[in-house]
Amino acid sequence: MRTVHSVKDLRAQVKAWHQKGEKVALVPTMGNLHEGHLTLVREAKQQADRVVVSIFVNPMQFGANEDLSAYPRTPEEDSRALFDEGVDLLFMPPPEALYPHGMEGHTKVEVPGISDLYCGQTRPGHFRGVTTVVCKLFNLVQPDVACFGMKDYQQLAVIRRMVEDLAMPIEIRGVATVRAESGLALSSRNGYLIAEQRQQAPALYATLQAMGEALAQGNTDFAALIEQGKSRLEQAGFKPDYLHILNADTLAPATKNDQEVVLLAAAYIGKARLIDNLLVNLQA
Ligand code: PAF
Repeated sequence: MRTVHSVKDLRAQVKAWHQKGEKVALVPTMGNLHEGHLTLVREAKQQADRVVVSIFVNPMQFGANEDLSAYPRTPEEDSRALFDEGVDLLFMPPPEALYPHGMEGHTKVEVPGISDLYCGQTRPGHFRGVTTVVCKLFNLVQPDVACFGMKDYQQLAVIRRMVEDLAMPIEIRGVATVRAESGLALSSRNGYLIAEQRQQAPALYATLQAMGEALAQGNTDFAALIEQGKSRLEQAGFKPDYLHILNADTLAPATKNDQEVVLLAAAYIGKARLIDNLLVNLQA
């Protein structure tokens, strides 16, 4: 595995692969890699001849009240794990390589509407930061395929929309969430949980599963299900941020006639804000 830090070295390597007709996959990450990220890498390896992983803790997607400096950084462990997975190229740029003129004056890429809802409402500007950096990474790597985790369901929807709107010739693959045995979705943010909160945290997914079962059994009183879900979260020690039942494609509020819906949740536990989701087929 080769590690590069500059845009110039990244471009030269990818160009050489493309000239040989090799298919390139990109897995963008912010590091502190866990099994969920490694699953993305394995999917990328299935899809392409060469796999590029980027590790960049993107300052543009952090709000003023969010602690960018506290975000976990584990470059040595990450690098070893990616080497073991057989990754071809690790791109670890310093901020000035991606934002040479600083962030303020940098061109922004924004998907309107969907970026302002749910997580976007709690974290204004977050998705603008995500789409700007992902668009830039796409331009630098020019991948044929890019892999993203389905845990960040709204992020995946926003990126799919950007790719469609800007006619980017890239296949976006959503990869299933990897969970601990308890059901808790793997996330770098789980590192913020203390022992007691780790016991409580699986209640987030358990709540979504209970709601999913009720929906699958034909309960279509969405408002009541959401209220019950929120109280279940509160009883488990969470402070719910949002809990919604949405059309799985458009992320608009679900209707009884929808084929597939997604239960989308964000909730605080201690210092951590956890997100999770569950897809449910209403017509099954
Ligand atoms: O999901 C993440 O880790 C980040 O939002 C991403 C896609 C790498 C962009 O910084």
